[in-house]
Amino acid sequence: MIVPFAAGGPTDVIGRLMADHMGRTLGQNVIVEDVTGAAGSIGVGRVAHAPNDGYTLSIGHWSTHVVNGAIYALPYDLLRDFEPIALLPSNPMFIVSSNSVPAKNLKELVAWVKANANVTIGTAGVGSGSHISAVYFQNFTGTHFQIVPYRGTDPALLDLMAGRIDVMFDQVSEAMQRLRDGTIRAYAVTAKTRSPVAPDVPTVDEAGLTGLYINIWYGLWAPAGTPLGIIAKLNRAATAAMADPAVQKRFTDLGLEMPPAAQQTPEALGKLQRAEVEKWWPIIKAAGIKAE
Ligand code: MLT
Repeated sequence: MIVPFAAGGPTDVIGRLMADHMGRTLGQNVIVEDVTGAAGSIGVGRVAHAPNDGYTLSIGHWSTHVVNGAIYALPYDLLRDFEPIALLPSNPMFIVSSNSVPAKNLKELVAWVKANANVTIGTAGVGSGSHISAVYFQNFTGTHFQIVPYRGTDPALLDLMAGRIDVMFDQVSEAMQRLRDGTIRAYAVTAKTRSPVAPDVPTVDEAGLTGLYINIWYGLWAPAGTPLGIIAKLNRAATAAMADPAVQKRFTDLGLEMPPAAQQTPEALGKLQRAEVEKWWPIIKAAGIKAE
């Protein structure tokens, strides 16, 4: 299972939980390999060109399997070159900062970014969920960050805690632990409702950035042409993992939302991906976000 972002980040954590349980169902180890760079497009490309025998899979999410197609001249086609297996859990982002940032709420944060030309924001690369969210924030608020790309949000988060960068959009499932231990500060969650694991963090609407919703949904794909019998077997292993109460608890404790059982099919993932491409590509292109 190729994880297209750095070890320790949200994609890696979800991938490892899934791989571990799927391996037990399938009766053989599912090995996770982190293949990082270019907002996940290098790792995803590895899977697009892998043999379609069911032995190489791609975990990815909204930005790797939707957004990247609008930003990069990819050497693969996100819709044609993959066989969807299953929709996995989803989570929104937190807007977080280093504890050294003086702002105590989102309005103060916006004012602070406006007043300081060198505020840095860490991202997982151009086109990653964290990067698109940062650009959105800039467009919404008329602010400007110095954008610092990493190979995943985990190395960015380490620099945030150390105060080497100021701000990040980080998925709830990754930021939660740091929020609990007080090593970072959260200003808002990019969802219509507060996260059950962080009821004190206001929604973007409550905090003053109405409508800045970003939901990172995860999925599992195989290379196009993988026999449908193999896709069905992999889907059964993925859904068995998501049906296990112990796995569900791990996911929900991290602030992830489980997809309803009816949405855990290959067809539902394919449909969602196509709908998201239609919705987001025009928005991303209009926002002028390009690979550097
Ligand atoms: C990661 O695993 O590092 C993240 O999913 C990257 C991102 O923000 O898109």
